[in-house]
Amino acid sequence: MPKDTLSITDNRTAKTYEVPIQDDTIRAMDLRQIKVKEDDFGMMTYDPAYVNTASCKSRITFIDGDKGILEYRGYPIEELAENSDYLETAYLIMNGELPSKEESDKWAADIREHTFLHENVKKLMDGFRYDAHAMGMFVSTVSALSTFYPSSKQVYDEAGRHENIHRLIAKVPLVAAFAYRHAAGMPYVYPDTELSYTGNFLRMLFMRHEAKYVPNPVLERALDVLFILHADHEQNCSTSTMRLVGSSQCDPFCSLAAAAAALYGPLHGGANEAVLRMLGEIGSKDNIPAYVERCKKGEVRLMGFGHRVYKNYDPRARIIKRTADEVFEVTGRNYLLDIAIELERIALEDDYFVKRKLYPNVDFYAGIIYQAMGFPVEMFPVLFAIPRTIGWLSQWQEMLLDKDQKIGRPRQVFLGPAKRSYVPMYQRG
Ligand code: ACO
Repeated sequence: MPKDTLSITDNRTAKTYEVPIQDDTIRAMDLRQIKVKEDDFGMMTYDPAYVNTASCKSRITFIDGDKGILEYRGYPIEELAENSDYLETAYLIMNGELPSKEESDKWAADIREHTFLHENVKKLMDGFRYDAHAMGMFVSTVSALSTFYPSSKQVYDEAGRHENIHRLIAKVPLVAAFAYRHAAGMPYVYPDTELSYTGNFLRMLFMRHEAKYVPNPVLERALDVLFILHADHEQNCSTSTMRLVGSSQCDPFCSLAAAAAALYGPLHGGANEAVLRMLGEIGSKDNIPAYVERCKKGEVRLMGFGHRVYKNYDPRARIIKRTADEVFEVTGRNYLLDIAIELERIALEDDYFVKRKLYPNVDFYAGIIYQAMGFPVEMFPVLFAIPRTIGWLSQWQEMLLDKDQKIGRPRQVFLGPAKRSYVPMYQRG
């Protein structure tokens, strides 16, 4: 008779344990009873980098990495990218359902209400060096926002929590745009809330001396699509950081800054920047085979390729490739795109990449689009952090309201040294 349990025999003691299976998982704490001696600590699992450990139960984002499926709250990413806009998708991710017209208007109005930065934030940002990396400015400024909203540490105050969620969604594009203008030595542009979320962002970035800035509708839509694609991706490095930092009941501004810092690394959201640098280094289609050889020898990585979860084409990369064509109609074709397309073709025919199931990920083409739109590479991870804000906040709120969760605290396997006595310096060899 089949049972939803797992029997484990400890061959050290010949004892058998029966532990319940739920959702194809066993509870790690059920292993603690497995001991040789009564005063043993008990068994744990060893899982560096959490490659096979579920740290939470979630209802937000579903990924089937083998089939290349990504869904937010059950809706396929392809349908959202085709039909939705960023703010509507953000509402869906946060609240679980697509909004009615009234809900959508209220959501947009609640966010619009917070679309400004305190003048002191501007001064703070002015203090950065002219060549400060935009992501360093973003991370520090977002955490500094917590000092302007001290009540945000009351994370279980529902109304306050919602207000801070609106605040963060509203303010991250401003912080990003100010960081960009700072590096460019240009005056900060205040928001125009009559524009869409992405239209206003483009204005704050690129407005020069126009009496009224009108965003290019193709670029505005392309940015919306890119924002939808980057909105959430379940328990990746930055989201897990958001949950872990947030589990200490730290305020959402500081938690989100920590998540953004995790995103910054070249193996995560910094990969789009790394892709551009790599394509620049390759320089021409003729140099691709030599670069691919270096990847295979382990000297370099093919940036924008491979994913911990996707062992198939990243569905976001497919959509981005289409968006690239639309953007290039407006901006003109970037020679790096030709290198990227050829690099993808060669890699996907190469046994090394095929065997390891290494396909282009979301970052492979995103950077080329961003560059064509006029962004410097330092802005790329920031352009990732803006839309991912909704994913981080939704996952953070889900963690706070989950009765199973408490402060995150992994275990270690201690390898020594064993206890020993302090040796005064004159006796050390
Ligand atoms: N180029 C060349 N070889 C690679 C690459 C790559 N991009 N990615 C993985 N491999 C190889 C590894 O060398 C390893 O080979 P081996 O079995 O012979 O040792 C094998 O494929 C498995 O690689 P792991 O590092 O174990 O895979 P992991 O799941 O830990 O890493 C990661 C995933 C970090 C994304 C990796 O594929 C990578 O470094 N990619 C490049 C960086 C990148 O594009 N990051 C963006 C990810 S998407 C995102 O965060 C938004």
